[in-house]
Amino acid sequence: MPPQNGRIFLVTGGTSGIGYETAKALAGAGAVVIIAARHPERGQEAIASIRQATPNANVQFETLDLSDLSSVHALSTRLTASLPHLDGLINNAGIMEPPERGVSKNGLEMQFAVNYLGHFALTADLLPLLRKADEPRVVTLSSIAAARGALHFEDLQFEQAYSPADAYSQSKLACLMFARELQARSDAGGWGIKSIASHPGVSRTELLANRDGFSGFARRNLSFLFQPAARGALPTLYAATAPDALGGSYYGPTGFMEVRGPLGLADVPAAATESQASTRLWEISEKLSATEF
Ligand SMILES: NC(=O)c1ccc[n+]([C@@H]2O[C@H](COP(=O)([O-])OP(=O)(O)OC[C@H]3O[C@@H](n4cnc5c(N)ncnc54)[C@H](OP(=O)(O)O)[C@@H]3O)[C@@H](O)[C@H]2O)c1
Repeated sequence: MPPQNGRIFLVTGGTSGIGYETAKALAGAGAVVIIAARHPERGQEAIASIRQATPNANVQFETLDLSDLSSVHALSTRLTASLPHLDGLINNAGIMEPPERGVSKNGLEMQFAVNYLGHFALTADLLPLLRKADEPRVVTLSSIAAARGALHFEDLQFEQAYSPADAYSQSKLACLMFARELQARSDAGGWGIKSIASHPGVSRTELLANRDGFSGFARRNLSFLFQPAARGALPTLYAATAPDALGGSYYGPTGFMEVRGPLGLADVPAAATESQASTRLWEISEKLSATEF
């Protein structure tokens, strides 16, 4: 990674897993890093741990609950008032397959709200701050699960029949479509943003812990096949910092089924390339979040 001195990054979900490793590596390279998640005590633990590796790390914690749009707007307001610019927004935080259908403070299915819509609103809010940076980037985490996903426009919030896996896949497909659509809109509007998607293959983090069904079985018995979280963070770090990283592209591991392996361009599922669906999702998202880019 090139030195990141003078650059400021916001990493959602920086208290654990991929986000923690992303924050740690960026801070180690000299960046100012703000990690944002729900629990301040976990934030302080993450900061202490990052400072063990980099004693002079410039890392701070901000409270953020992506399932609550007022919390998203409050963070954006605080950052807009306090930061001169924002060089990188890492839309990383996520939850996976809660067995029961959860509902966000704004009445939305929980995975859609946390993984996707909260990040959509956060990016919209922070666009002016990003545009003050020299070469701003937005990196949004998707997943190999996006390839199994579809946008259920007839029931986006899974009110009729909830499937934990389908709702997760939909949210991660939405993240990938958002990253690509943001690049297209930035190009058309001259916003100067590089928007890139990334995924960590399958990595050992808290996301897969304590799961029922196949995910839980895999976690307990097959985790030797997964990547360490630090390796899972590489596609995100590349997207956030590499001079050659391409706007509108998607990076991940390139080994067996993209579960692990060397970093490279990831397969973009056909559903993510449907421009009419991307436009429709964007317009619905602006309405649901009451935000505009
Ligand atoms: N691990 C994998 O194999 C894998 C595979 C594909 C994609 N991904 C993606 O990678 C990203 C990171 O996942 P991970 O594996 O690192 O998971 P993780 O270890 O469970 O970390 C998730 C992070 O998200 C934060 N978070 C959860 N709910 C939140 C909310 N409502 N508001 C704000 N922050 C919230 C958590 O912090 P608090 O609990 O403190 O809020 C935590 O820092 C996710 O987008 C996930 O979909 C992971």
